[in-house]
Amino acid sequence: MRVGVPTETAAGENRVALVPDGVGRLVKAGLEVMVQAGAGARAHFNDDAYAKSGATLADAARVFAESDLLVKVRRPSFDEIKLIQPDRAIASLMQPASSGEIFGSLATARITALAMELVPRISAAQSLDVLSSQATIAGYKAVLIGAAAMSRMLPMMITAAGTLIPAKVFIIGAGVAGLQAIATSRRLGAVVSAFDVRAAARQEIESLGATFITKAEQPKDAEAAGGYARELKDDEARLILEAIGGHIHDQDLVISTAQIPGRPAPRLVTAQMVAAMRPGSVIVDLAAETGGNCELTKLGETVESNGVAIYGPSNIAATIPTHASQMYSRNIEAMLKLLVKDGQFNLDLQDRIIGPMVVTHQGEIRYGKSH
Ligand code: NAI
Repeated sequence: MRVGVPTETAAGENRVALVPDGVGRLVKAGLEVMVQAGAGARAHFNDDAYAKSGATLADAARVFAESDLLVKVRRPSFDEIKLIQPDRAIASLMQPASSGEIFGSLATARITALAMELVPRISAAQSLDVLSSQATIAGYKAVLIGAAAMSRMLPMMITAAGTLIPAKVFIIGAGVAGLQAIATSRRLGAVVSAFDVRAAARQEIESLGATFITKAEQPKDAEAAGGYARELKDDEARLILEAIGGHIHDQDLVISTAQIPGRPAPRLVTAQMVAAMRPGSVIVDLAAETGGNCELTKLGETVESNGVAIYGPSNIAATIPTHASQMYSRNIEAMLKLLVKDGQFNLDLQDRIIGPMVVTHQGEIRYGKSH
């Protein structure tokens, strides 16, 4: 069985789906791996390293046409789909909620497609979970973006030129990215507080040394299937806005990560709250791609309001491409362990991890039926 690794073509995408170490392990396990020349260049993995790991280097047309299973970071384009043979397979992030036409095209071409974001959030599937691996990177980088843009330093400094008090960092949404942002800003010496609508997050926040911000009445049963948050009712949302509004005004750095799967991000930071913040403070809105947690966020831009800078970064994991690729590659390897039996591609639609990931198969769109 041959696994193919094309070069990513989406703008700003620096990651690669398999790194040379991973290729080496797969080749040892008996698979063939074909890598497009230059595929790892932007993540700083060169062709020589792939060749040494046992990969065959080829051009895009060959990689797409001659692989049994293609592994990518971003969903294939319509042009790329045309290069894939019927009854072959592709696994990548698919942005399923906005991929109706892409899925139509994959189904028409009889290509089996697996969406990496549909890995179930269960312990047994953790090693395949690209949302977690890439969110870890995003949470870390968000702190660095904020720290670099702030008019104050994060740590306390006792110097001959006086004592500087530590900065206050507030993390909204303590999932994978938020917890990593707490850990990173603590390492940099900030005083950190955090909020999440899921009651279970409190213990995780506190175990990282941050203060949990809450209203007396935390919404009941805010945790929905898969450990995700549910959308809130109006009265619940109002209480949360009050709690955030009462806390945010003296924060130097706010990192917001709150998301609800398949829905626009909840609005948690209003323009009025931003107006109450000190000039020189920064908001990094990691929910920008789903509409933003802050009312003023613009995707891919930095908005300045009343001296407060609001960052709305997109595809932040791609800005740390070496480690992001290394982690993504491990996730892909873990998936391949479930997809390959005795050296052959073996798709088990009943498998509790693989089954939900399959969005097109044998000419049909499965996404939306089983999800
Ligand atoms: P996410 O990216 O969907 O959301 C980030 C955070 O925002 C979540 O913690 C969510 O509760 C919070 N949030 C949503 N609406 C909010 C609101 N109105 N106010 C404040 N916070 C709000 O979530 P992520 O990071 O992907 O993880 C969500 C959950 O899944 C966590 O419980 C995590 O522990 C769990 N998980 C489980 C895994 C496994 O068992 N394999 C793997 C990864 C995550």
